[in-house]
Amino acid sequence: MFLQTLTVAAAIGLSGLALSVQTQDNGTQSNSTPTQILAPEGPAPADVLARGKEMYGISCAPCHGLNGKGDGPIAANLQIKPRDFTRGIYMNRSTASGELPTDYDIYHTITRGLHDTPMPSFAQMRPEDRWAIVQYVKTFSPRFEDSTEYPLDILDVGNQILPSPQSLARGRQLYLEMQCANCHGINGEGNGPAANTLSDDFGNPIHPTDLTNYSDFKFARNVLDVFRIFSTGLNGTPMPSFQQSLSDTDRWNLANYVWSLQDVNQYMDNQIDSNFAKRK
Ligand code: HEC
Ligand code: HEC
Repeated sequence: MFLQTLTVAAAIGLSGLALSVQTQDNGTQSNSTPTQILAPEGPAPADVLARGKEMYGISCAPCHGLNGKGDGPIAANLQIKPRDFTRGIYMNRSTASGELPTDYDIYHTITRGLHDTPMPSFAQMRPEDRWAIVQYVKTFSPRFEDSTEYPLDILDVGNQILPSPQSLARGRQLYLEMQCANCHGINGEGNGPAANTLSDDFGNPIHPTDLTNYSDFKFARNVLDVFRIFSTGLNGTPMPSFQQSLSDTDRWNLANYVWSLQDVNQYMDNQIDSNFAKRK
């Protein structure tokens, strides 16, 4: 049962990319029905939950609290507060706006961590233990066992458009039309007119990402992540979902534009400069 969950979740995590490559190869539109998770899976086996609880107590409870309320002993000293798991609200997802995350989404967050926040990466932890923690974390919120929360609609990434001057120009146009600039600023530097007025659903102040600065991204490591994030939105934050308002093609154009905002060469130059400075 648990192993089955594992395989399905892993397949879902990878299917997005596979789909986009496949459809691009033969140039046809995919007519497949959207991928959905239809119903709660029921609690994981007792031994998995016991292992998850043990590992959670060691690795997560110091920040997220023994009861998952985000009130561990370290929390008071953190400016960005650890997530309260009891509400079942997750930012980083492959599911539609307002929906629960998949198991793989939570696994993904634990594995990568959230860059530039206190949330560390647990990539060095055994995968079985990371999966067991996912099962345990889900028990903090009754939403995961509530059948009215289902089905979960997994994002379809459509046909990927590769970056080109045309794609970037269209992306820039969409960036302005969709009012991304209102929060992220006219040049993406995270300084739009609304930037200093925002807070998350937990009452903590929150700032729009500086999209020109790779190290300011919490989640995105590539253009597909960018596509996913503004498609699904970040639940619990003011960052909206644009899945309904834009076609797949336009979302790829916008993702290309957003990803191009980082001056990668400058980033590399800075790295080289600082290494050089160290050597001197
Ligand atoms: C040093 C403190 C710290 C530790 C240890 C820690 N976290 Fe976090 N975690 C955070 C903070 C802070 C956030 C909120 C980040 C934000 O809002 O940007 C967070 C957010 C999260 C999220 C929310 C992601 C989303 O999509 O909304 C998940 C899931 C999570 N942590 C799981 C875990 C798990 C599981 C562990 C243990 C394996 C763990 N964390 C250990 C500090 C920590
Ligand atoms: C109402 C304000 C608002 C609007 C409008 C908005 N964003 Fe955001 N966005 C945010 C906030 C706030 C965050 C930071 C969330 C966090 O740090 O947890 C964010 C985060 C992001 C991220 C995540 C970067 C990362 O990996 O950490 C991307 C990508 C992004 N926005 C793109 C866009 C695009 C593209 C648009 C327009 C289509 C847009 N946003 C519109 C407020 C907004």
